[in-house]
Amino acid sequence: MDKTDRKTAVVSKEELENQKCFTQKVSSLISARYIKKPKACVITYGCQQNVADSEKIKGMLELMGYDFTDNRLEAQLILFNTCAVREHAEDRVFGNVGALKSYKRSNPDTVIALCGCMMQQKHIADKIKQSYPFVDLVFGTHVIHCLPELLYKTLTGKKRVFEIPDIDGAIAEGVPVKRDSDAKAWLPIMYGCNNFCTYCIVPYVRGRERSRECKDIVNEFKELVAQGYKEITLLGQNVNSYGKDLIPSVSFAQLLKMLNDLDGDFRIRFMTSHPKDCTKELIETMASCDKVAQHLHLPFQSGSDRILKAMNRHYTRAQYLELINYAKELMGDELSITSDIIVGFPGETYDDFKQTLSLVKEVEATSLFTFIYSPRKGTPAAEMPDPIPAEEKSKWFKELTDLQEQISAKQMALHKGKVFKCYVYGKGKLDDNYVAARNDGNLIIEFEGDESLIGTFQNIKVIEPLTFVMRGELVKEKEL
Ligand code: 5AD
Ligand code: SF4
Repeated sequence: MDKTDRKTAVVSKEELENQKCFTQKVSSLISARYIKKPKACVITYGCQQNVADSEKIKGMLELMGYDFTDNRLEAQLILFNTCAVREHAEDRVFGNVGALKSYKRSNPDTVIALCGCMMQQKHIADKIKQSYPFVDLVFGTHVIHCLPELLYKTLTGKKRVFEIPDIDGAIAEGVPVKRDSDAKAWLPIMYGCNNFCTYCIVPYVRGRERSRECKDIVNEFKELVAQGYKEITLLGQNVNSYGKDLIPSVSFAQLLKMLNDLDGDFRIRFMTSHPKDCTKELIETMASCDKVAQHLHLPFQSGSDRILKAMNRHYTRAQYLELINYAKELMGDELSITSDIIVGFPGETYDDFKQTLSLVKEVEATSLFTFIYSPRKGTPAAEMPDPIPAEEKSKWFKELTDLQEQISAKQMALHKGKVFKCYVYGKGKLDDNYVAARNDGNLIIEFEGDESLIGTFQNIKVIEPLTFVMRGELVKEKEL
């Protein structure tokens, strides 16, 4: 890896060229081996960052000559891109990979591969090595761009391939991307996390924070706009610390302004923000940039200062509320807030939990992503005493989701009769002749409409707010 004049390491041009050679080699190999194009089935777990990684994996596989299928039993390459954030996600991967054991016995030429955050944990890679001998290839989060070489080794060698370097991570530019959607696109702006929240495995498996150069982001963004993408989501574990490692440093707010000023009809979204470095400058930028969605995903995790401290979050409930109130002041009714919350962190009492409930009432989020704490091996919280039984945590969890359901329903009801500019992203579910659209605040509105509307912005009037989606109708220009 090259060290540039900034603090972040980038993958060298030579290394990327080397991978292009391996792309050619795999391509020749599989065209000699298969009559028809072989198929790859890529199964993705977890967050949007993983979805974006899988799009790169598919981009590389496509260049190597693979077609794609969602049916793993008709694939010549089955690849699981895994998530380590909670135990449940890991259990699902073990279950699904385990289920392929006898399939692999009768189809020994099918390559079974595993990558992603789970694999970056030593105890998991060791378990795969020992107890899942039918898995051919395992690679970590830092070597995704090396897939051509790793696959070549797997296809030509007799030994299983394990490539999981334990490094801080680097940035590989120019890796091909095959996007899942023609309508919306994910655009990673940074990788890794430096925050070490005490419950979270991410900093251990995704390395240190590293930002892509502004020019690379702007170029990719312009390409997306030219290809017709109208909804582009900027991704990072903590987008608010974007650019701190660049020389000269650039703030996330500055990047947003730069993208907002580009020509074209598009909407910019971003996730995830950390309250500790969410600045007033960012909120003001959101409010003043016409192409930036007025949607703030700002996870507070807990409403208790004692628990926030134990989580190593570096903000208080009062500081969080100050940010939210400022955002509400500037963006008013337009603003949609969402958050992540963890229930049952080690040592959390019912009194602490009640403070989370009261913060939920004060924030009035559009929706919440709620999780029961899951101990992650190697994190400080996994070593903390955790006396509350699982059934008790489940009761608290239900109390929280019931409360938010009421708040969401109240918020949805307020929208009846309002007209929103929405991006039509796909087919609807309410009826066969419905299409689905999202407003600025990320709410889904479905309406009767032709599929030719997909990929366009339309004004939609809310007719009937339902639980998670609203029924609407198209507003013609002259009715506005
Ligand atoms: N247990 C439960 N939830 C977790 N999250 C992260 N780590 C854990 C864990 N160990 C949640 C946080 C984070 C979201 C992506 O996942 O709420 O914001
Ligand atoms: Fe995990 Fe905290 Fe980093 Fe988010 S900010 S990825 S919760 S360590």
